[in-house]
This record gives sequence, C-alpha cells and structure tokens, in this order.
Amino acid sequence: MQAILLVGGQGTRLRPLTLTTPKPMLPVAGVPFVTHQLARLAAAGFDHVVLATSYRAEVFAAHFGAGQNLGLRLSYVTEAEPLGTGGAIRNAAAALHPGDELVVVQNGDVLSGHDLAAQVARHRATGAVATLHLVTVEDPRAYGCVPTDEAGRVLAFHEKMPEPVSDQINAGCYVLDRAVIDAIPAGAVVSVERETFPSLLAAGAVVTGVVDDSYWLDVGTPAAYVQASVDIVTGVVESPAYTGVPVDPSAVVDPSASVVGGTALGAGVVVGAGAVVAASVVQRGVRIGAGAVVTRSAIGAGAVVGDGRVVTDAAIADSATV
Ligand code: GDD
Ligand code: MG
Repeated sequence: MQAILLVGGQGTRLRPLTLTTPKPMLPVAGVPFVTHQLARLAAAGFDHVVLATSYRAEVFAAHFGAGQNLGLRLSYVTEAEPLGTGGAIRNAAAALHPGDELVVVQNGDVLSGHDLAAQVARHRATGAVATLHLVTVEDPRAYGCVPTDEAGRVLAFHEKMPEPVSDQINAGCYVLDRAVIDAIPAGAVVSVERETFPSLLAAGAVVTGVVDDSYWLDVGTPAAYVQASVDIVTGVVESPAYTGVPVDPSAVVDPSASVVGGTALGAGVVVGAGAVVAASVVQRGVRIGAGAVVTRSAIGAGAVVGDGRVVTDAAIADSATV
C-alpha cells in the first residue's frame, strides 16, 4: 500500500514557530510531528509514502532520507508554488509506483488513533471512489463539514461552513481510487476540499464517510500542537514513534526544578533552580531561568526564558528572549 502525506502548508496559525520549522517537523514528544504519522503508516503495513512538500521543502528529506529508520520507502515531491491540497495530491501521484488502484492520502498535521485498515476495507466493500475518515466535533466551523446518510454515503462537503449543517467533519484521511487523483488537472492550484470532493458529489459518484471517534487532533494551533505532545507523553494516545523518554538525555534539569504534566524537553535544554515547566514543548537549546514558570507553552529552539518569568499558553519564537 502507498500513501501521500500533505506537508506543504505554511502553518500560518503556528507562527512564529513555523517561520523556521514547517508544522509537520515541529517536535512532538521528542520527534518531528510527522514521524508519528509515518510510524503509524509503517505499522499499518504501508511500504511507500510520498511526501508532498512545498514550504521549507528541503528539511524533510534532510531529516528522513530514504526512510530506512522507519521501515518505509520515502519519496519527496516539491511544488515550486503551492498547488493546494488537490494540486499537491495530483503532483505527488507522479512518484507513486503505478498499478495500485487505491491510494491513502493524509493531511500532515493530524494525530489520529483511527482504524486505517478498517477504512481501507470499507472502501473496498462499498465500491466508493473515495472513502473519508470523519469525526464528530463540538465546533465544526474550522473544518470540512461532511453530512452523510444512514448508510454512510456522503451527502455534501462544505469546507469551513459558518453555520455547519452537521457536527461530522473531515478528519483529513482519505482512501482514493487512483482514477480520482488522475482526474485532477495537472499543474493547477486545486483544493480537494472545495473542488474535487464537491464535484465528485455533483457528478453522482459514491463517496463514503467512515465515522471513527478514536483520538483525533489537528495540530494546527499552538494549543493543539502542545496538547498533541502532552497527550503522547502522558499516554492519552499511543504512538509507535514515541521512545518513552520525554526529556532528551542531554538536557540539564536542576534537581530543585520540576518538569511535569507531559512536558517534552529537547537536546541541550537547561532548566534552572526552582523552575516549573508544565505541559509544554521545549525545543532544543532552550534555557529556562531560575524560578521561571512555563505552562502549556511551546518554546522555540534556542530561546531564553529569564529568571522568574511566567509564560502561560504561549508560542515563543526560536532564539527569542522573554
Ligand atoms: N503540498 C502541499 N501544498 N500541502 C498543502 C498545501 C499545498 O498547497 N496546502 C495545505 N497543505 C497541507 C498542510 O501542510 C496540511 O498538512 C494539510 O495540507 C491540510 O492543510 P491545513 O492548512 O492544515 O488545513 P485545515 O486544517 O484548515 O483543514 C483541513 O484539515 C481539516 C482536518 O484537520 C481540511 O482538509 C478540512 O476539511 C479538515 O476538516
Ligand atoms: Mg490542519
């Protein structure tokens, strides 16, 4: 089985963290976020994954190489100008080895415990051209709203609807017939959510939704990004990529400091006397001063939190001093 991971977005809502590091490469529980998705694909039996890159494209191959450490074969395809989600899928498909009738496509910013094998099996059983993982959320407005009938057939796809008609949303993982991908115009900017899915539905094609309310989180905001790391460290969700060690062995934590609540510390982090770091992600090279209190925050690489400073629900830029 082959998959395409969409990792080319700008990660605007995660600025300033994403000014230097693309969202899928931000550390989560000690490894770049997308490692969790790749490890999960490997565990589900996938053998080849194409990363559809655009923003900061070069850092992905520099880190993951050919994928040998993950037990996967990785390919990289880069859009010179971002082509949107649909254009990125079409562009990345050129790197798939031919012959597979179906392809799994995932947004590169979703942490999910859903049953991918069941989703693929459902796709095969229903004869749909596309099978979408759906979840129910309290506030669907920031997502693709996807109502279905009793049999699970998708009735409509409304991206970011101000007054949602359903609490079911697109969870960002699709099983697609290869023919659906090949029908997307090449080299054009296309949104799979705003164009491809609505036009399939308008043409009467069978699109199926699979509701699976396992753990699911889009890490697109600073709060969600920090939550994903905390949830893995505290065991709320399991990841085959998590080493079980949230504090890098090269971090130096004063014996009187407390690092608690699922915090992850990167390489070379120094935490001073009496400091408290709770439910946070602290990237490599950060210095947290004596008596500082950092809570539910993401601290960018090389940043300095001064003695006694209180940082709560914050996203601090790389190399910043607060
Ligand atoms: N290669 C490439 N090129 N990737 C892109 C591009 C592009 O032009 N634009 C976005 N992406 C990638 C992003 O990196 C991300 O992994 C994924 O596509 C989705 O983009 P987001 O910007 O995170 O979209 P969203 O969160 O607002 O909405 C999407 O995800 C929701 C679920 O988390 C949509 O698919 C919604 O329908 C869905 O509900
Ligand atoms: Mg997103």
